[in-house]
Amino acid sequence: MTNFDAYWNAWAPYWHHVEDFFFEEDSLNAITDQLQPPVLVLGAGLGLIVEALRKNGIECDGLDLSQPMLEQAKQRRNLDLILGDAADMPFADNSYQSCISASGVIDFMGDEALIARIINEMKRVTIDANKIFIAFGHFSPAMEQACREMDVIKDMQLHIRHSLRLSAAMAAMSLEELAQQPSVGTEKEQKFGMGYYKIFNEVEDPQQLIDVAPETQYYRTEEEVKALFKRLGLPIREFTVAETSYIVRI
Ligand SMILES: C[S@@+](CC[C@H](N)C(=O)[O-])C[C@H]1O[C@@H](n2cnc3c(N)ncnc32)[C@H](O)[C@@H]1O
Repeated sequence: MTNFDAYWNAWAPYWHHVEDFFFEEDSLNAITDQLQPPVLVLGAGLGLIVEALRKNGIECDGLDLSQPMLEQAKQRRNLDLILGDAADMPFADNSYQSCISASGVIDFMGDEALIARIINEMKRVTIDANKIFIAFGHFSPAMEQACREMDVIKDMQLHIRHSLRLSAAMAAMSLEELAQQPSVGTEKEQKFGMGYYKIFNEVEDPQQLIDVAPETQYYRTEEEVKALFKRLGLPIREFTVAETSYIVRI
């Protein structure tokens, strides 16, 4: 289990405002032609990726450990996703042809023994061991630089609570005041930031949403992602750079 269950549960009702980031549809499109059905998506959340695959006629299941996320996926997209932990999956060996770890499962995790365990599980449930994809969310260089200047990214750590406190402070501004702030990052990143603005204007108790978040998560550059797989002893077959994610095929 990750230590983040309470975080995902608490954020589930608001996640739709920010779901279209990191491993999103453009990232999926970058690897779709390599996928063989049936596909399993780990960390399926609200079902953005599962829905996109099924719309393309690709048979697909989604696994997530957060019951509130599954309830939101049902309510918002009428999807029946499967409750379970990527580190101990409720599937027989060789149940799928392809397996994707979406952003939020492995990428922000520091515990490399747990990363190895999840990848072993991915291999166990996937027939074709060549069809395993692991997503790592990343920002644009301009946004990454801004995050470093604000101490949101420091020493390979993303300081989540600090960044949420900054977002909550922005949410106190009117839209007119917000429009006067210097804009940083890509269009997608500005939309992502706007998602947090909406969340903090919608939630009754912003502090509770901040307190339940982990203080920090890992944030890896391209070189650090490659170094991780070297330490794990897993050769990278293909490294795809999408706008908001790196996708490693092992
Ligand atoms: C950032 S969200 C992904 C959102 C998703 N791509 C979507 O379409 O909405 C990450 C998700 O991974 C799930 N998750 C994290 N660790 C997991 C694990 N070990 N097993 C299964 N799901 C996990 C969380 O509950 C959360 O819903």
